Amino acid sequence: MMSRSAAHQIAIRDLKSIDDLTQLKALEKEVWGMADEDTLPLTLAIALKTAGNIFVGAFETAKDSKNKDKEKMVGFAFGFLGREHGLTTLHSHMLAVLDQYRHLDLGLRLKQAQRERAMGMGIHEMTWTYDPLQSRNAHFNFAKLGVVSDTYKVDFYGPETSSVLHRNGTDRLWVRWILDSRRVRDRLSGKNVNSRTETLDGLRLLAPLVRFDPSGKPARANLADSLARQRVSIEIPGDILEVERTDMSLAREWREATRWAFREALKAGFVVAEFCRSIRGQQGPGAYLLQQASVTDLIPEA
Ligand SMILES: CC(C)(COP(=O)(O)OP(=O)(O)OC[C@H]1O[C@@H](n2cnc3c(N)ncnc32)[C@H](O)[C@@H]1OP(=O)(O)O)[C@@H](O)C(=O)NCCC(=O)NCCS
Repeated sequence: MMSRSAAHQIAIRDLKSIDDLTQLKALEKEVWGMADEDTLPLTLAIALKTAGNIFVGAFETAKDSKNKDKEKMVGFAFGFLGREHGLTTLHSHMLAVLDQYRHLDLGLRLKQAQRERAMGMGIHEMTWTYDPLQSRNAHFNFAKLGVVSDTYKVDFYGPETSSVLHRNGTDRLWVRWILDSRRVRDRLSGKNVNSRTETLDGLRLLAPLVRFDPSGKPARANLADSLARQRVSIEIPGDILEVERTDMSLAREWREATRWAFREALKAGFVVAEFCRSIRGQQGPGAYLLQQASVTDLIPEA
């Protein structure tokens, strides 16, 4: 496994050539385990890039067999322009880092590069979707980047795709990243990530809408009681992919229960504001914090 200091040698740059875009497609297949027909067609990638959409990659340089420097793509982010609530946004469709290069801040550096480029184009907001049962993405998106969400999409890409990450349906939280907000600037500068007062134990006091029962299954709370509060939480497993591998029906129970909780809470006027991973370590259970508020209450610049 690469060290954090060695990871600093990995360069983040715009994709330039057809070879870069071919590497992106290969990486997409490796990370999501996708069939060819579900990956971004090369011709479309070329057109999207040429028309001004944002493609950034993380490149490691190593010597090839002829002792020449060769760049290998180990991560990328790709976003296209969108139009949401009357504003031009960047919709970040894909972010990926190869397994053996993860947890070295490369995902963070790719998002920072996307943000700089989007802001340079006069864009104030980025959006993207992710599976709310994925604890690592939840921590990455809410704690490290400072997104918020007020929208839940049921089976966004259909009931399943060829991707190994889409075996338990394709429900998604649609997240909003308000690029020049104080919240985002604070998170990117490392403030507030570990110093927030909420902990998983603290969130338990909020009587979670969904929580682990003693046997490790999701238990639902009384809806009316929970929604009468200002803040509610929703617990999720620390590693849903492992649950999918070992007990698919339990993974489906988590999908059903959390889908119910997010949809009911968002319908009742809550927004998803934070995610706290377990104080017992990153692989333990985590919990979302939802507040009775609008996105503009949480982020006045929105
Ligand atoms: C999401 C992804 C791009 C993140 O890349 P990365 O380079 O590992 O990102 P970073 O190192 O900047 O941050 C990862 C964070 O997740 C944390 N993490 C890892 N596993 C975790 C888990 N099971 N629960 C909670 N947090 C977890 C890491 O500790 C790290 O946080 P920290 O720096 O505060 O400790 C990468 O995991 C990936 O390619 N996933 C598969 C594709 C995907 O889900 N893409 C995004 C949705 S389109």
